Amino acid sequence: MKKLWEGRLSGEKDKAIEEFNASIHFDKRLYREDILGSRAHAKMLAKIGVLTDKEYRDIDAGLTAVEGAIEKGELPFTAEHEDIHTHIENALRERIGDTAGKLHTARSRNDQVNVDIRLYLKRETNEILYELLSLERALHSIAAAHADTLMPGYTHLQPAQPISLAHLILAYFFMLSRDIGRLQDCLARMDILTLGSGALAGLNYPLEREMTRSELGFARVSENALDAVSDRDFIIEFLADTAILFTHLSRIAEDFIIFNSNEYRFIELSDSYATGSSIMPNKKNPDMLELTRGKTGRIFGDLITMLTVMKGLPSAYNKDLQEDKEALFDAIDTTLAVLPMVRGTLETATFNKERMREACDQGFLSAVDIADYLTAKGIPFRDAHNIVGRMVRDAAEKGKTFASLTIAEYRTYSDRFDNDVYKAADVSQARVRKISSGGTGPESIRTQLVQAEALLNRWKSEVRTASY
Ligand code: ARG
Repeated sequence: MKKLWEGRLSGEKDKAIEEFNASIHFDKRLYREDILGSRAHAKMLAKIGVLTDKEYRDIDAGLTAVEGAIEKGELPFTAEHEDIHTHIENALRERIGDTAGKLHTARSRNDQVNVDIRLYLKRETNEILYELLSLERALHSIAAAHADTLMPGYTHLQPAQPISLAHLILAYFFMLSRDIGRLQDCLARMDILTLGSGALAGLNYPLEREMTRSELGFARVSENALDAVSDRDFIIEFLADTAILFTHLSRIAEDFIIFNSNEYRFIELSDSYATGSSIMPNKKNPDMLELTRGKTGRIFGDLITMLTVMKGLPSAYNKDLQEDKEALFDAIDTTLAVLPMVRGTLETATFNKERMREACDQGFLSAVDIADYLTAKGIPFRDAHNIVGRMVRDAAEKGKTFASLTIAEYRTYSDRFDNDVYKAADVSQARVRKISSGGTGPESIRTQLVQAEALLNRWKSEVRTASY
């Protein structure tokens, strides 16, 4: 099989060396982008007179035939072809003869592979954004349905204050909204045409890079050829963004794993998103959520792989850069596999409102409200905190709650306590009293839902999946 560099070196290679050097086993998935890039390049070469119209038409038709053959599985990918660029050029030569050799005029595989990855990653980032948007929609509807569902809020996994379930779900919504923003920023920075850089120094032709840019739908043209051919910042950035996204997804998964546990029973997972045990018939396991948490490890690994590959590389292209693809592809595949699982698990889960409400009666969730009650009666907050702290300690020992303490018992702690303290102790009232913006109070939750909906509407017009 013809190697692209056969003139300088003998094309004969030991099989093991050929295998080791090859990237075709993984870069084959760039075939569409490689053909798109070649078409645009050939069209531009014809425009500047490097190719005749006939040569351009032959190349273009040949590329269509190659694409069709790849799609029908007629062109097996083997290491002899080294990489997708070689594979396609050789397949083109088999179809249109020597004209195929003119396609690589004014191009290097260094700028070719760069533009292929950018095209591919733009498309996949949009797919991921689309999936994230679906997840956000699901979160929004869960939140809207549970604006008034009361549950204990936790810090340190200890009962803290009562919140509405919507408050928690909207926390997920706004946290993921930052991931959408980050991926959109990343998309803007990867949207640069690097084709036309050549190996590193530019080319001896009056290239019309602006034409290639608009043919391929890039926003801008790279400024410096040497930088462009070895720039993988956009991959690192994408991997960093997905790593942050996965810190969020794994935290959401962890919350739901805990809430699904027998000790909490706040939610019940749908059978379709749970699995059983091979030995214990009683088990219903949250595997999708555990895998979400577990796969976070490989996403972090992908980021570290890429950072390490790039560290200390001499300027311009080095073969190390071929190692960019598997980490990137793994992160893309993992993210696209996980997002629908998280959405499906959350969408189909049943929230056990009674259990959550009951749990609010434990854990002295209105402690802050009772301290605020005393504060309103003129006791400095620090002292009120101390009084309520002592009450909680004693009540916990006696197995009592704020509601079951008698007014006489209250008065042993402070003479400011009156019968209206029971209203302050009522957990369902605690939420109504949260009047600050961003809080869990009814007014704030309404506002948050409106803000979330505005974001959903904005993203609807911004997130588009690729047409090819
Ligand atoms: N397969 C190579 C890669 O993925 C393509 C670029 C090869 N360039 C070179 N100068 N050997 O990076």
